[in-house]
Amino acid sequence: MNKRVLLVIGGGIAAYKSLELIRRLKETGADVRVVMTKAAQHFVTPLAAGALVGERVFTDLFDQAQEFDVGHIRLARECDLIVVTPATADLMAKMANGLADDLASAVLLATDKPILLAPAMNPHMWANAATQRNLEVLRADGRAFVGPNEGEMAERGERGFGRMAEPEEIRDACLALLSDGPLKGKKAIVTAGPTVEALDPVRFLSNRSSGKQGYAIASALAQLGANVTLVSGPTALATPAGVKVKRIESARDMLSACEDALPADVAVMVAAVADWRPSKTAKKKIKKGDAASAVELTENPDILATLSKLTKKRPALVIGFAAETDNVEANARVKIAKKGCDWIVANDVSGDVMGGNDNQVMLITRDAAQSWPRMSKDLVAQKLASEIAEALKGKATRRK
Ligand code: CTP
Repeated sequence: MNKRVLLVIGGGIAAYKSLELIRRLKETGADVRVVMTKAAQHFVTPLAAGALVGERVFTDLFDQAQEFDVGHIRLARECDLIVVTPATADLMAKMANGLADDLASAVLLATDKPILLAPAMNPHMWANAATQRNLEVLRADGRAFVGPNEGEMAERGERGFGRMAEPEEIRDACLALLSDGPLKGKKAIVTAGPTVEALDPVRFLSNRSSGKQGYAIASALAQLGANVTLVSGPTALATPAGVKVKRIESARDMLSACEDALPADVAVMVAAVADWRPSKTAKKKIKKGDAASAVELTENPDILATLSKLTKKRPALVIGFAAETDNVEANARVKIAKKGCDWIVANDVSGDVMGGNDNQVMLITRDAAQSWPRMSKDLVAQKLASEIAEALKGKATRRK
């Protein structure tokens, strides 16, 4: 593998495993460069890491010689992937807040390359609300994570989540992120989950969509190398690795988040968008006595139809979902014509697929229809992602 990995070693006891990681990465043929934080040097020495990579290790943002030689901007750019081992609570907090007061954090802020973090810390630090908040922010920024694992900690008698992933696991996560998947360089927008339409500050109209299928599709597209923006209504699901998430509530916010994410090569609209919203959202809680006997409703914008009908910025492939109980193919064809999309994935919801882990779908394109056997939502996602990769093959990538 002819790839360049920049390894940022953080200051924690797990830093010693980074030396092993250097060897595992070099065995794959990768070129490895090392940046160490000041704290990391209490655990492993630049001399040891330097001996393993066969070149100097970078440690100081304000060292004139280091900055003239290979400055922080070059370190941030001259690589295909940055991996942080261990990603300490402190480094995660700095990254989540955009701090850049040393070489490691400045490189992490200046880069436009994918970043993989292997967190390691005491289980209480990992469980702390601040760390969990930072984790969510970093995930939403599209950072990928491997671990932490559960197990014995360095402190005697302590167990829990906080052990750094093993060097082989981190190497495999690096290889997955470095792989030249068929969707590398392509941009995807996926919508998922329900939308929430406010009636007043405490009441809303919504639906029971779990978001599972949409999240699985976002993850499958990312695994094939796509740059994915997931626009999600409220769900209880974790952000998939390597996916950027924009969390919204209303259909109108979902539409503007999708428009902001354009241009894209493919849009997969999986969200269960509320077709209607209350015409007025009361600023204050509506009192029992004031409630009108009927809530007046206004139709929401149709996000799938809006993106399908764009002229300049229309993604090359626009895919909608449709919940059908009968005449699946015929109804889906009517929907393709009405909304102007290219494909419809029609869920047969006559059984028990709503909210469950399995799905039974038909893929209907403008000139064909395939009925897929019942399978898990993850498998549906992987199959759809490969169909998308096949369809986009040879199509020019949308940039403007
Ligand atoms: N959709 C959308 N914006 C809306 C409504 C729907 O983007 N305001 C998208 C959904 O994400 C999905 C598809 O359109 O991809 C579903 O279309 P819809 O007309 O709502 O179909 P069904 O849910 O199947 O409902 P019906 O057949 O009752 O019209």
